[in-house]
Amino acid sequence: MQALEQKILDEGIVLSDQVLKVDAFLNHQIDPVLMQQIGQEFARRFKNTGITKIITIEASGIAPAVMAGLELGVPVIFARKYQSLTLKDDLYRSKVFSFTKQTESTIAISRKHLAAHDRALVIDDFLANGQAALGLADLIHQANAEVIGIGIVIEKSFQPGRQLLLDQGYRVESLARIESLAEGLVTFVKE
Ligand code: G4P
Repeated sequence: MQALEQKILDEGIVLSDQVLKVDAFLNHQIDPVLMQQIGQEFARRFKNTGITKIITIEASGIAPAVMAGLELGVPVIFARKYQSLTLKDDLYRSKVFSFTKQTESTIAISRKHLAAHDRALVIDDFLANGQAALGLADLIHQANAEVIGIGIVIEKSFQPGRQLLLDQGYRVESLARIESLAEGLVTFVKE
């Protein structure tokens, strides 16, 4: 997606050869116009697939997921990472290990929002090792619902996440695919 790649080049900061900071438009400050375009692009790629729900994870997945939900006309559920005061019973839960942060967290969604007939689209801001996406897919499978695809805003293609998800049979649509962050430079996969 051209506008997203340009935004990454203009405002992304390469923190190391593994980590890209995009606090200016995605992870802290949010660019609503870009987010709307991102929602439209996800909707274009997944139109006519019969999606009934979008599933994401707090916090940074929410903005792109909501815009995609608006375009596709379906509700958006965000999995919680932290204990919620009101979300306690009747949960689907999955454990997600973050290689980037070296922490394990339990993610959860309420059973009442996801049913066996649902056709779910997973959306997340980053794809690195694929563990968050797999955790979300696990929640969807627990509901006996179907994972129609996984939509990612920024994929770090030099990390194993994409291949892991493809190996499990998931359709992966990433709007920006980063080939390398070496030497402080962002390069994209040529498609
Ligand atoms: P994985 O889900 O693909 O396995 O990724 P991993 O555990 O390695 O990443 C954990 C967290 O770090 C996620 O955010 C993910 O979005 C973020 N992350 C991974 N690589 C990058 C990167 O290069 N740049 C930025 N900015 N973030 C990265 P999170 O902890 O869920 O945070 P948030 O959603 O609350 O912002």
